[in-house]
Amino acid sequence: MKKHEVLETNVGLMALFMVLAVSIGGLVQIVPLFFQSEVNEPVAGLKPYTALQLEGRDIYIREGCVGCHSQMVRPFRAETERYGHYSVAGESVWDHPFLWGSKRTGPDLARVGARYSDDWHRAHLYNPRNVVPESKMPAYPWLVENHLDGLNSATKLEAMRTLGVPYSDADIAGAQAAVAGKSEMDALVAYLQVLGTSLKNKR
Ligand code: HEC
Repeated sequence: MKKHEVLETNVGLMALFMVLAVSIGGLVQIVPLFFQSEVNEPVAGLKPYTALQLEGRDIYIREGCVGCHSQMVRPFRAETERYGHYSVAGESVWDHPFLWGSKRTGPDLARVGARYSDDWHRAHLYNPRNVVPESKMPAYPWLVENHLDGLNSATKLEAMRTLGVPYSDADIAGAQAAVAGKSEMDALVAYLQVLGTSLKNKR
């Protein structure tokens, strides 16, 4: 019996060697990433989300925007011509959880910040058909009516800080005041307007 046949005719041994082979493959791919500054350090000029932007991000998650919009420009010409500089890992190091997504019913939003005015976003989110007649995006009119009390904002910033986002004590102390009374629309637009702006002007 050839040596490889021993392996192929013994399920237990085969499974063991498969696990071994896959683990080595995985380790070789994954472990070096922990030591590359390119993927675990923020890009120059990256700022943590403000308390309001962070609330906006939570609304983005709650409303399922990520189910139709990716936030990940791939390094292909067709993508960079349309959206701008491709996404780099250093832009997402403070995003917990990251929202790269994979479904694109609508356009990628990784570089949407500062592309439209605040008023455009408000009109669009209130009812996309008001500004893009053929749009299939759902309307989110309640964002105007719902207001934030900011009671959890400081805790949210603190939670982010334990994950390595460099919030100062002053940021955390001021979080509730920065958010209280603002509408969900204010928060979501603030979030959208900052997306991808740290690399925005690179092409
Ligand atoms: C059912 C899929 C769907 C969902 C859910 C959805 N969108 Fe969209 N979105 C689209 C489509 C399709 C377009 C393109 C047409 C348009 O501009 O309205 C779009 C366009 C956009 C644009 C304009 C992008 C550009 O570059 O022109 C923004 C900003 C946007 N969506 C934000 C959001 C946000 C924020 C949410 C969550 C509150 C959301 N979308 C939820 C489908 C969706």
